[in-house]
Amino acid sequence: MKTILVTGGTGYIGSHTTVELIQAGYQVIILDNLYNSSREVLKRIQAITGVLPKFYEKDLLDPAALQMVFKENAIDAVIHFAGYKAVGESVEIPLTYYQNNIAGSLNLYEAMKEAGCRKLVFSSSATVYGNPQSVPIREDFPLSTTNPYGTTKLFNERILEDLCISDPSWSVLLLRYFNPIGAHPSGLIGETPNGIPNNLVPYIAQVATGKREFLRVWGNDYDTVDGTGVRDYIHVVDLAQGHLKALEYAFSHTGAETVNLGTGNGYSVLQVKNAFEKACGKEIPYQIMERRPGDIAICYADTAKAKKLLGWNARYGIDEMCRDSWNFQSKNPNGIEKAQ
Ligand code: NAD
Ligand code: UD1
Repeated sequence: MKTILVTGGTGYIGSHTTVELIQAGYQVIILDNLYNSSREVLKRIQAITGVLPKFYEKDLLDPAALQMVFKENAIDAVIHFAGYKAVGESVEIPLTYYQNNIAGSLNLYEAMKEAGCRKLVFSSSATVYGNPQSVPIREDFPLSTTNPYGTTKLFNERILEDLCISDPSWSVLLLRYFNPIGAHPSGLIGETPNGIPNNLVPYIAQVATGKREFLRVWGNDYDTVDGTGVRDYIHVVDLAQGHLKALEYAFSHTGAETVNLGTGNGYSVLQVKNAFEKACGKEIPYQIMERRPGDIAICYADTAKAKKLLGWNARYGIDEMCRDSWNFQSKNPNGIEKAQ
């Protein structure tokens, strides 16, 4: 049985990936400082899988703690989710973002190197494509960033590519996620945003529960199907399964590979709103507002490389994504209790 260290494993995508890993027969060790998640998630993972994963409440910024985790366990590979992810906040406190997402990640890579663990799956983001010239977006498109969060993703990609050049025995998958939404069909784990959600589906979900009055649609004058922004929403369970395929690839290859994880389909804000209304059986009131600064019109993935290299493609459609988001939201109206 292979042992996988999942950093950020009590977070949104990490918890779903942990469930898929356990169900596929891997042993999972989670490292998380519970900055944006809670211990309760471990119990939820156990309720779904029957297995309580081994857990280290540790910080990436503590190199000794990372070394200790690698000393105490024979870790075959790492899936690295831990990091800060709020775009607006990264503009306000860039040093904190660079410290956590870059210095923290460097500590992890050092600890892996020291322990002789050279297989890694890294959470990158479609944000590294900046404002793409065309869609669908291929992995070899030009890269640029518009905020410190995006820059931390791009820097990590470069660092890991350089590492693979310096030592060809490393195997690294850089996964560029499009827009993850949805939740595990059990309704036990899902996304618990802090404060007022910035992202579309968590916001709509709170309108549906009555927590927010109406959806603010950021602009309807884009060159899209109905004028509102178009994104490639992907079910978090599909995304989690993409990590298992990436891991299998890492176990049988060396070098660095970059892969988009999206569905290849774009949906507008109003199309998502309509799908959510169908899922929850309620009307979602909305108002058209000015464009949100920094937003792009259209973003969706070219998924050919994921299919060819990993043998993976997304299976869930937008209706199932909204159904599962609503299922989680209605069962956990205040999210999963946070540690702080
Ligand atoms: P999340 O906030 O739910 O999970 C991240 C976890 O990392 C949290 O549990 C948090 O407590 C932990 N963490 C943060 N800093 C840490 C540190 N220094 N030491 C230990 N643990 C730490 O986020 P998520 O949505 O699950 O995202 C996971 C990864 O995927 C992140 O790297 C994120 O940038 C990336 N990503 C997310 C999205 C998205 O829309 N959710 C899109 C693209 C990429
Ligand atoms: C945002 C981040 C991106 C990150 C991604 C996933 C920005 C500029 N980009 O992308 O870096 O990788 O989240 O976490 O923040 N919308 C509304 N009303 C809302 C919320 C969103 O109309 O209340 C619209 C947006 O204008 C956009 C679409 O919905 O057209 C999706 O927005 P969002 O969920 O925030 O994701 P992204 O903007 O794609």
